[in-house]
Amino acid sequence: MTTGSLLVADLVIAVLAVAGWLGAGAASAVRRRPLALALAAGALLATLARAITITALARAGWWFAAEKILIAGPLSLAAVGVAGPRLLRVPVDIRAVAVPLLFAGYATSGALLVTILHGYPASAGAGLLAVAGVVTATVISARALGARPSRTASRVALGVAVGALVTGTGLTVAPGAAPAVPHDHGFPATRIADEPTRRFTLTAGTATVDAGGRDVDAWAFNGQVPGPELTATVGDVLEVTLRNRDIGRGVTLHWHGYDVPNDQDGVPGVTQAAVRPGQEFVYRFRADQAGTYWYHTHSASDVGVRMGLYGVLVVRPGPVTGLDVTVPVHTLAGRQLPAPRVERVEAGVPVRLRLINTDSTTHRYALAGTAFRVAAIDGVDLRGPTPLVDTAVLIPAGGRYDLVFDASATPVALFVDGRAVYSTGPVSTATGAWPVLDPLAYGATAPAPWSRFDKTFTLVLDRGLDLRTFLPRYAHTVNGAADPDIPPQVVRLGDVVRFTIVNRSQIVHPWHLHGHHVLVLARDGKPATGGPLWLDSFDVRPGEVWEVAFRADNPGMWANHCHNLAHADAGMTLHLMYS
Ligand code: C2O
Ligand code: CU
Repeated sequence: MTTGSLLVADLVIAVLAVAGWLGAGAASAVRRRPLALALAAGALLATLARAITITALARAGWWFAAEKILIAGPLSLAAVGVAGPRLLRVPVDIRAVAVPLLFAGYATSGALLVTILHGYPASAGAGLLAVAGVVTATVISARALGARPSRTASRVALGVAVGALVTGTGLTVAPGAAPAVPHDHGFPATRIADEPTRRFTLTAGTATVDAGGRDVDAWAFNGQVPGPELTATVGDVLEVTLRNRDIGRGVTLHWHGYDVPNDQDGVPGVTQAAVRPGQEFVYRFRADQAGTYWYHTHSASDVGVRMGLYGVLVVRPGPVTGLDVTVPVHTLAGRQLPAPRVERVEAGVPVRLRLINTDSTTHRYALAGTAFRVAAIDGVDLRGPTPLVDTAVLIPAGGRYDLVFDASATPVALFVDGRAVYSTGPVSTATGAWPVLDPLAYGATAPAPWSRFDKTFTLVLDRGLDLRTFLPRYAHTVNGAADPDIPPQVVRLGDVVRFTIVNRSQIVHPWHLHGHHVLVLARDGKPATGGPLWLDSFDVRPGEVWEVAFRADNPGMWANHCHNLAHADAGMTLHLMYS
């Protein structure tokens, strides 16, 4: 069983236990004896079964089980300890066990709420709040059912509830010591001496564009979605003038995966101010990395990219030989771009398909009719890629794969989620059952460049209630906090840095660090066995633990976030900063 499915199983069992105890309590309150006993027996079993799932989760990593062991464990023991013995000697009047059964229900619900609303890390504050809730709910139920608890019992309960509430609230809401991320709006543009310069102007504006034969409202660069394809040759200087005609949320250009100097990175409020309607900003940087990249707005990035403010950036090592095709996949107003393209290609011509996922979720790509190699991932050439046949690739949000092959006499077709987007003729192959390439086991190994790390950070991805905003929100969290309260990761120039990224949640988080490619060391404790894999975007699936490393060689303040941009907006963004 994978850790992801264990997390789901444990959640389901916890919900069953809660439903069982509460149902048993309610049934006994209305004297439905057989029903009450059956539900209580089921709840008891479910509560005990959690010992198994929680132990298994703890073995997969403390992050997956922390609050379950520290908070759910004691509360469940209390539930079993209070309700269990009374069930062994069932009284004549079943109503007499209603309060203990309800207590068990409140205790298990309290623990469940801690997991759902608070997650990782387990905190004393959350535990105390759960206790306060359980005691209060039990006292109220006892009164409602006409049970007369003794004066002392009432006083003790009240004291515990108030004490736990006050301390718990204090511990939970007290502002964390997150050092503020300095916001700089006045960076000087990087000076670059005279070199061949490729100049482009991108004007952002609202537009009506054609999406698969239907006119839709979009936000576009130069009136088109995707925006113009920017191309350069290694060594060129790119000079891109960004103008904003009428995008009220502001616009910037972020060069996704391109490790530019920090002042060119296009993150509003961090490396520049957003470009407002009527304003412009000039980006200038040297194209010194060949490969497939893309650009997109980073201002209101979730809606901005979704509405169409993105385009392709391709830097080639030299003149194009053969056929070089970019396939940026995007969902615009529910329609998938690009429109299918059919192209005649002579046999023997080398073809490079540059696949780009500009959506916020993973896409599945399948190239049918030919053997191919994955020449590069995230712009970086792979070492010793071997030919693949009838194998699909999964590209995370923001990621890029370059597939290469020599055109054959028979047609080939590229399918994205089952839809043909590029072909050299008709191909009818079912690709849905193909195995998926694991990039961690692809290509020829090379010794790891580092064996020791100057800094290590752990990022535990989860969901939780963010109480620090004016209106509490259910945020996507990192180590229990949401942007802007996640402490920045501070490194020094030259440090070798290791990140452990743990996904405790039920959804995929495509992780993306700006300004650096990271080398994948291991997933779920198993070292990568293929060629060195340098990524800027990678899917951390539910229950997965990724170990990646990089050298801190690009000073500045860098966003480090989930590239499901809705998640990034809802808290899952932090910063890497150089001291
Ligand atoms: Cu493509 Cu900060 O993102
Ligand atoms: Cu995410």
